[in-house]
Amino acid sequence: MTFPITRNRRLRRSAALRSMVREHTLQVEDFIYPIFVTHGEGVREEIPSMPGVYHLSLDQLKLEIQEVVELGIKSVLIFGVPAYKDAQGSSAYDDEEIVQQAIAAIKQWAPELVVIADTCLCQFTDHGHCGVVHVEEATGIAQIDNDQSLQLLVKTAVSQARAGADIIAPSNMMDGFVAAIRQGLDEAGFADIAIMSYSVKYASAFYGPFRDAAHSTPQFGDRKTYQMDPANSLEALREADSDVAEGADFLMVKPALAYLDIVRTLKEQFDLPLVAYNVSAEYSMVKAAAANGWINEQAVVLETLLGMKRAGASLIITYHAKDAAKWLKDSE
Ligand code: PBG
Ligand code: ZN
Repeated sequence: MTFPITRNRRLRRSAALRSMVREHTLQVEDFIYPIFVTHGEGVREEIPSMPGVYHLSLDQLKLEIQEVVELGIKSVLIFGVPAYKDAQGSSAYDDEEIVQQAIAAIKQWAPELVVIADTCLCQFTDHGHCGVVHVEEATGIAQIDNDQSLQLLVKTAVSQARAGADIIAPSNMMDGFVAAIRQGLDEAGFADIAIMSYSVKYASAFYGPFRDAAHSTPQFGDRKTYQMDPANSLEALREADSDVAEGADFLMVKPALAYLDIVRTLKEQFDLPLVAYNVSAEYSMVKAAAANGWINEQAVVLETLLGMKRAGASLIITYHAKDAAKWLKDSE
């Protein structure tokens, strides 16, 4: 009978020992909490496919921000449902619109909270695409016009910075968006405002619940001509390379769970802070299973978020942020 010399179980014998050799941890500073703002008063409307996530009018937003700050969360990501939509998405760069109002209000209530603005047009265009649509005369095929979209995205980013956003997070996947927005911000006097690029964003079915929440489902076609093919990984390197060259301050991988290999690859090849976006359907699936009593929600969520950290993410955008912050606090 031979016995093992190496016994990995030795280091698992007690909670104290396990905590001493633990390689990765979750902390509240890791989380970025997405918030959906809307016009009106007294609006706190739950998004059906995302239990626990709400459309909030500004008065309700104030309460939400208080809660977020009390929980120790350092940053929020703002999405908005505007009062009007058109082909150019002009409500995205309207200084008086809801996203701009919300950003300004949050910076008043909680100046320390890092406010990130999602910079895209899909919530603001009547066709629901992330850029300007052109129908090709010869074929009748609708195309997203890259460079024309860039101009509108720059206007949007500058308007968000003017409202007080600390970080601009372009999610539109047009080519050259980081360079264009960097230049636009610098020219407008916002050289210190960082860009968190949605560098590697796949054309994913995991955005379904978000599109209900943001009213941003494309009215025709899909986003496959600008978002990435889920089958590709080398392309992720090209996307990240160009963002770095264009001056991005953060890189992001989105969605997170089905793409943790990409998170790991970017972590190894780039030295910018890396963000994983734990997207809407990842959240909804957990909430649905938990509501049925099929899983232990707290354990599953914390294990999932830890997995994203282990893969290499330094920050996680997650709808679970408030719950996770509470659980981490309780376990202190
Ligand atoms: C807008 C945007 C989307 C998400 C974040 N910003 C949707 C999309 O690209 O269709 C998805 C977030 C989520 O699913 O939680 N471009
Ligand atoms: Zn978009």
